[in-house]
Amino acid sequence: EGNKLWGGRFVGSMDPIMEKFNASISYDQRMWDADIRGSKAYVKALHKAKLVTQEEMAQIQDGLQKVLGEWSSGTFQLKPGDEDIHTANERRLKELIGEAAGKLHTGRSRNDQVVTDMRLWLRDAITTLKGNTIQLITTMVERAAVEINILFPGYTHMQRAQPIRWSHWILSHAVALSRDVEQLEEIRKRVNVLPLGSGAIAGNPFNIDRELLRKELDFDGISINSMDATGQRDFVAEFLFWGSMCLMHLSKMAEDLILYSTKEFSFITLSDAYSTGSSLMPQKKNADSLELIRSKAGRVFGRCAGFMMILKGLPSTYNKDLQEDKEAMFDIYDSLHAVLQVATGVMSTLEVNRKAMEAALSPDMLATDLAYYLVRKGMPFREAHSCSGKAVHQAESKGVPLNQLTVEDLQTASPLFDSDVSSVWDYTSSVEQYTAPGGTARSSVTGQIEHMRAWLKVH
Ligand code: ARG
Repeated sequence: EGNKLWGGRFVGSMDPIMEKFNASISYDQRMWDADIRGSKAYVKALHKAKLVTQEEMAQIQDGLQKVLGEWSSGTFQLKPGDEDIHTANERRLKELIGEAAGKLHTGRSRNDQVVTDMRLWLRDAITTLKGNTIQLITTMVERAAVEINILFPGYTHMQRAQPIRWSHWILSHAVALSRDVEQLEEIRKRVNVLPLGSGAIAGNPFNIDRELLRKELDFDGISINSMDATGQRDFVAEFLFWGSMCLMHLSKMAEDLILYSTKEFSFITLSDAYSTGSSLMPQKKNADSLELIRSKAGRVFGRCAGFMMILKGLPSTYNKDLQEDKEAMFDIYDSLHAVLQVATGVMSTLEVNRKAMEAALSPDMLATDLAYYLVRKGMPFREAHSCSGKAVHQAESKGVPLNQLTVEDLQTASPLFDSDVSSVWDYTSSVEQYTAPGGTARSSVTGQIEHMRAWLKVH
């Protein structure tokens, strides 16, 4: 028990099950680098405040560098009693440099230390995730540019709606992901605020230069209130929500693709690299990559909701409940880091079956166009909608496709129908109507691609 940072007032030792229950080292050791960076900066501030001599500072810096070396070479030895990464690093520092190590924690608490470590760690994690998301968006935008000529059925309520460009579908998902990137940038601003120098609750009594700490650790600003700084995890909750939202987007995309990859649709073929087989049915090729992306959404939502539950019952300032923030944060990072890379792989390797996509278009999907034909002849849209609906009904009762109705048939629905109605039955000219920004006409999709390329340049 000699290792404990807080052993002084205790006479009894901890129950071994409690010891394990209390420890966070199994997962928070991931923050070893952040923890040592924070300590290196803190010792500089202690020196400036005249709490450690130049020599002690050098000793501590040197020792911390050695601890860092052990972690990075994988030789750091955990010992019983290493409760968390902060405890473990300080224990090791003391073994390496002796008594001077005992000065490092002057005026610091694990309460301001842990949240500083987390912010340092998350800052880098956010940079990585942003890169992963940008890469996925880039893949999608470039694919959209190459495959702009391909048309296929668009669905609402999972019912055949209107012909659209395949690129329009791709971009609909890329645009959602671009909002995720923007949100991540917003969150980074709030992550990048330094809590160190807040102590356990009341602040720092040694006139520690927090501005120096901020500069050393490259934060944008310092926290305003020590109680808030040590007791709030808004930035974690925001990150968990970010992960949930991003995965909701990816899950939606995955669900579309799973459907499109079925034999019944046959719109796309997933690369073998992102599919698996069945141990029983030799013919199977399953879209496991996409199914796992879909399932990670559930997992991540659960983490987010679970952490909100932890937060809701807490009184202000630090409570040990907050220790559970890290597994949620790491899990969201790991899930998103994997999902975004797999999604990039899926999107860059899947094959589009253009013939099947275009063959799946059918004249009933042009019923709206039939109404627009009448609108262009001066009929109010409501009435045109009803006339086109009557034509649809007529085709259904005759058992013929909508475009097989004769002009005479159509004229029973409206006398405005004429022989030029034949121009309606063309899928390319159908999509080419939608030239307003955001639409599925070639010019509009090109505009979206250009918009996204410009967006990518500044993100
Ligand atoms: N391992 C703890 C955590 O992750 C560090 C903070 C402990 N502070 C305390 N006062 N017990 O939250």
